Amino acid sequence: MSLLFSPLSLRGITLSNRIVISPMCQYSAIDGIANDWHLMHLGKFAISGAAMVIVEATGVTMEGRITPHCLALCNDAQEAALARVLQFCRAHSQTQMAIQLSHAGRKGSARRPWDAGPPLTVANGGWRPEAPSALPYSDQGETPHAMTEADLEHVKAAFVASTQRAKRLGFDAVEVHAAHGYLLHEFLSPLTNTRTDAYGGSLENRLRYPLEVFRAVRAVWPDDRPLGIRLSAVDWAEGGLTVEDTVHFSKAFKAAGADWIDVSSGGLVAHQKITVGPGYQVPFAERVRKETAATTMAVGLITDPHQAEDILAKGQADLIAIARAALRNPHWAWHAADALGDAVAIVPQYVRAR
Ligand SMILES: Cc1cc2nc3c(=O)[nH]c(=O)nc-3n(C[C@H](O)[C@H](O)[C@H](O)COP(=O)(O)O)c2cc1C
Repeated sequence: MSLLFSPLSLRGITLSNRIVISPMCQYSAIDGIANDWHLMHLGKFAISGAAMVIVEATGVTMEGRITPHCLALCNDAQEAALARVLQFCRAHSQTQMAIQLSHAGRKGSARRPWDAGPPLTVANGGWRPEAPSALPYSDQGETPHAMTEADLEHVKAAFVASTQRAKRLGFDAVEVHAAHGYLLHEFLSPLTNTRTDAYGGSLENRLRYPLEVFRAVRAVWPDDRPLGIRLSAVDWAEGGLTVEDTVHFSKAFKAAGADWIDVSSGGLVAHQKITVGPGYQVPFAERVRKETAATTMAVGLITDPHQAEDILAKGQADLIAIARAALRNPHWAWHAADALGDAVAIVPQYVRAR
């Protein structure tokens, strides 16, 4: 039996294999409310053969969305629409369903990637973003409002409230988004956090707010359901986060009850210099796994089943998240099972495909 198709238990749930559909923004919601697009997108991945599907970055407040077209989970209409999507997936699949809770910070009020142009302003349907410090992501966007202590409390309470909604919805797991230059990552990195209060300065101070949020989420998320966190291991920019910082953060999140560390990178500053190639983020996952003993998810240009198996065999990660390869080939997991001579559960309607 391959490692890729071996099960993994996380608290009260068991993943049937190690393949996770990575969260992918669809920029297709109206007022943060899921619709038939999400039904199709997530429904498709629910029968893909992957063990877990993570719903796209979902704003804990309306201002926490990346674009006006992103999902949010802060009111009853948004909750009801996601209930419909989940019910649809559950009716046809045993796949574990997770949701990524997020606040976009200074990268909020953006346009959809396929709508060219500068970030939206209040005058054309956007909002003034909030961030640890009043430093814009680009000179074309509005300078974010530097969050006050009251703002920090408000956003933390919003993470908690969205988590309670996720619990009521019956999601199997939650992933806190602290990567890609969004709010919690902005607190962690010295490039975006120049605060002089208890939330800025030293590594411990920069970690303080993300950790407070994570602990508050863990406190209301059921003990038998896993809670993960996505981190950007490095900022790919001078003076930014290093993998050593990320190992330190990972230990703290693990101690606070993180059931997986999802190791991504970058997205913080426009002048980042990324070296991209097959499995380019895997060495970061490996460092985190080896130095913290945390359950680790590797992501980023993992496209080949043997490559995925190798990552697990070398002990570089415990889970493999797939994004673009799954967009191209939603049944990536079936092909992986064929390539590795292993078996994967297939819905009865599709059994003849094999
Ligand atoms: C269309 C699209 C939307 C994405 N949206 C999110 C998101 O909502 N949250 C997130 O953490 N990463 C997001 N990502 C990043 C992916 O989850 C993944 O980390 C990245 O694409 C690298 O993996 P890959 O090489 O398998 O695509 C997105 C990527 C794509 C292609």
